[in-house]
Amino acid sequence: MEQPYSATRYLEKQEAARTRRSKWIVLGSIIGIIVIIGIGVGVGVGVSKSNSNKSVSGAASNSNSNSDNGSSTVQQTDPNDPSTFVKDPNLKHSFYGLAYTPEGSQLPSCGANIGQVIQDIQLMSQLTSRIRLYGADCNQSSLVLDAIQQTKVDMQVFLGIYNVPNDAGAAYTRQRDEIQTALQSFGANNVAGLTVGNEFMLNYLTDNGGGDDINSPIANAGAALLTPNITDARSMIAGMNLGKTIPVGTSDAGSYFNTLVMESIDYGMANVHPWFANVSIDAAAAWTADFFQNNNVVAAQALSNNPKMYIAETGWPTQSSDAGNANNGPSLASIPNLQIYLDTFVCQANTNGTGYFYFEYFDETWKDAQFGGVEGWWGLFTSDRKLKDGIQIPDCHVD
Ligand SMILES: *[C@@H]1O[C@H](CO)[C@@H](O)[C@H](O)[C@H]1NC(C)=O
Ligand SMILES: *[C@@H]1O[C@H](CO)[C@@H](O)[C@H](O)[C@H]1NC(C)=O
Ligand SMILES: *[C@@H]1O[C@H](CO)[C@@H](O)[C@H](O)[C@H]1NC(C)=O
Ligand SMILES: *[C@@H]1O[C@H](CO)[C@@H](O)[C@H](O)[C@H]1NC(C)=O
Ligand SMILES: *[C@@H]1O[C@H](CO)[C@@H](O)[C@H](O)[C@H]1NC(C)=O
Repeated sequence: MEQPYSATRYLEKQEAARTRRSKWIVLGSIIGIIVIIGIGVGVGVGVSKSNSNKSVSGAASNSNSNSDNGSSTVQQTDPNDPSTFVKDPNLKHSFYGLAYTPEGSQLPSCGANIGQVIQDIQLMSQLTSRIRLYGADCNQSSLVLDAIQQTKVDMQVFLGIYNVPNDAGAAYTRQRDEIQTALQSFGANNVAGLTVGNEFMLNYLTDNGGGDDINSPIANAGAALLTPNITDARSMIAGMNLGKTIPVGTSDAGSYFNTLVMESIDYGMANVHPWFANVSIDAAAAWTADFFQNNNVVAAQALSNNPKMYIAETGWPTQSSDAGNANNGPSLASIPNLQIYLDTFVCQANTNGTGYFYFEYFDETWKDAQFGGVEGWWGLFTSDRKLKDGIQIPDCHVD
């Protein structure tokens, strides 16, 4: 199972080792301080993100599900052929990956439709060749794979299963079966991975008074609930004759990677959020790189299975729905600060060979309705799929 990745892993190890060496030389004793800061704020990183992307029951507002499918922002030369879309010169293929949740993917209301997902893929394919999903409810896996095939774009998807610790496996089974249907219908050519769990360990520890020791007995009890689903997802894929092996991983807050969980995955995706760690915008990009390297990459390299690590989410909000959350410590949620984060993070991370999923493609109105604060305002695009006024996409091509 590790064979297809050995070359990549080797290069990454070299890169990481080189990075570590030069850090030791240049930074010397400062690195110890950075690690300590990283651990301290890690708790904040995780805890404040605990409600993002949570599956919702009932309250999700899909009131803005466009009946025109948002078709106004992308033109097609042939209205019946989604592959004939006209490119927007303001969009640059500069992102390693993007975090994406199709609009209307929350039970029970759903509402995700192929027209809107096609438009999203048309736009996102001008920015990146990789997206990650968080869950599989509301037919989103099939919709996304269908849209990629209809638009004929170069796009790989990390599919997702949003399982939860306390439902006897119901959410897991429901979404696993959706993924299986999607793979049967659309094949695995556009599938780069299957992520089982989003902030599963963070939520488990939070709900069970587990504190912040991610390898405590309580945390290991949570791991014992997550890993069987990871193993089951692997056997589901192995049993499908897809012609390729799809890596299986998990995503969680950056400081919530339990060792037993890491030993069971091919890859891990870590949320690393300078905003939630109260880091100033000027220090944000370097802080993200340091946190990820010193916590997630180093932890993975210490294990014999050496899971490949990605940044699952990183970004900066452009506003808050209430004044109290308009800043988190030193810097405001604002368009100029999003621009600074784009300018300082994206091209450097590409040069460094970091795999990251920029958070996020568009403003999600259901999150604003449900959680308020900055939750609904992380998009590069507005909720009606227009590039935010004042934002310039950095120009540094990455495949
Ligand atoms: C737009 O979405 C509606 C469902 O909301 C669907 O019936 C229709 O076929 C879609 N239009 C296109 C062009 O995909
Ligand atoms: C799910 O999406 C796929 C791809 O667009 C479509 O073929 C299928 O009919 C959809 N299934 C349901 C139940 O809506
Ligand atoms: C998935 O995990 C849950 C616990 O989180 C467990 O109850 C269920 O049996 C698991 N299902 C499978 C198929 O692994
Ligand atoms: C970040 O700042 C806010 C106030 O803006 C405070 O409530 C919160 O505790 C701080 N978090 C951390 C991790 O320092
Ligand atoms: C890229 O690597 C350099 C050198 O290690 C580091 O200083 C910088 O913070 C990294 N930036 C990003 C965004 O990865």
